[in-house]
Amino acid sequence: MFEKLDRLPDDPILGLMAAFRADSAPQKVDVGVGVYRNDRGETPILEAVRRAEQLVFEKESTKAYIAPEGNAAFNAAMEKLVFGNAHSLFATGRMRTVQSPGGCGALRLGAELIRLGSRESIVHVSNPTWGNHVPLVGGSGLRIERYPYYDAATGGVAFAAMVAALNALPERSVVLLHASCHNPTGADLSETQWRELLPVFKRRALLPFIDMAYQGLGAGSAEDAFGPRLFAAELPELLVAVSCSKNFGLYRERVGTLHVIGETPAAADASLSQLTRIARTMYSMPPDHGAAIVQEILASTALSECWVEELSAMRERIVGLRRALVQQLARSCPERDFSFIGRQQGMFSFLGVTVEQARALRECHHVYLTDDSRMNIAGLRDSNLEYFAQAVAHVLM
Ligand SMILES: Cc1ncc(COP(=O)(O)O)c(C=O)c1O
Repeated sequence: MFEKLDRLPDDPILGLMAAFRADSAPQKVDVGVGVYRNDRGETPILEAVRRAEQLVFEKESTKAYIAPEGNAAFNAAMEKLVFGNAHSLFATGRMRTVQSPGGCGALRLGAELIRLGSRESIVHVSNPTWGNHVPLVGGSGLRIERYPYYDAATGGVAFAAMVAALNALPERSVVLLHASCHNPTGADLSETQWRELLPVFKRRALLPFIDMAYQGLGAGSAEDAFGPRLFAAELPELLVAVSCSKNFGLYRERVGTLHVIGETPAAADASLSQLTRIARTMYSMPPDHGAAIVQEILASTALSECWVEELSAMRERIVGLRRALVQQLARSCPERDFSFIGRQQGMFSFLGVTVEQARALRECHHVYLTDDSRMNIAGLRDSNLEYFAQAVAHVLM
């Protein structure tokens, strides 16, 4: 059986991480990996998480199964976090939520649900999009196509081209959108642009499938959820895949949610029943620990305040680094405009160098970023911004 299998090439990001670890140069810089880092280069456990985890240990009396849809209190708390406490949706009874193994699990659950609704559905993803969207969503058997999104000339969204493409889609197409902190470009839709997309979705009866993996790391928890909140108020159907990996720092605990909004409470119920069946056939039940931690945090005013402060500190660090990087690059590469980095949000940006230049950064300057020049801003530190900017200037010469 297995000798017929081909050996697959290594994942480029994992290869990059291994090369970084093996590099003994003290000045090495890792902007390749996709996790948040503090100024000491660590991905720390949040204080709110440590305190909540202690409570979970004290309270937990059994390891018996919970349910395919996960922890009900966690799901309810996440609905409030994602949509806000007073969203009009809550009065309609049209939303159902399942806990998922991370944002990835939520994306796959959503894709499987869409496939059950219509096997012929095509999911349109932004060009470019997070590399894992294609195997995660396409792995369910759905076809994937791309709509124009990133404008490399401005570092922003190619909004006119995006709208023109969405306007030309067949009715009832599925459109995957990033709520905020677009991965890999950092180019986000403005509130005005979200509003302008709404009539397009209405006219073409498009189904939005929104991926929210970075709530709170862009402009703020409410600001980053502007798109999902607006669409939930105005459209009959919506899917939102949420990850708690980044904003709670719970990466390895695998915790997220999928929110499905149906046209009627009965349609939402039917979707929930299908989702629990899908979960049963894939992994049966989601892991509990991370969800229990998030639920403890969201249920306690003191822990929530602590978490909000820590989340704000992560966001402010990213915003500060973006500003400082723009200044450093303006000094070291005055002939090139990097101001777009300051207008983008979240951890990622394309530096906009060629594959050869990205390799030269690695080989000559110990700066590790992927060949497509995506960089994780949170991998920089105050102490190496100048070094990084000079390395960029050197490869651009
Ligand atoms: C855009 C996007 N969506 C979803 C995820 C899913 O994250 P996880 O499955 O670790 O919660 C990530 C993680 O990197 C991401 O960048």
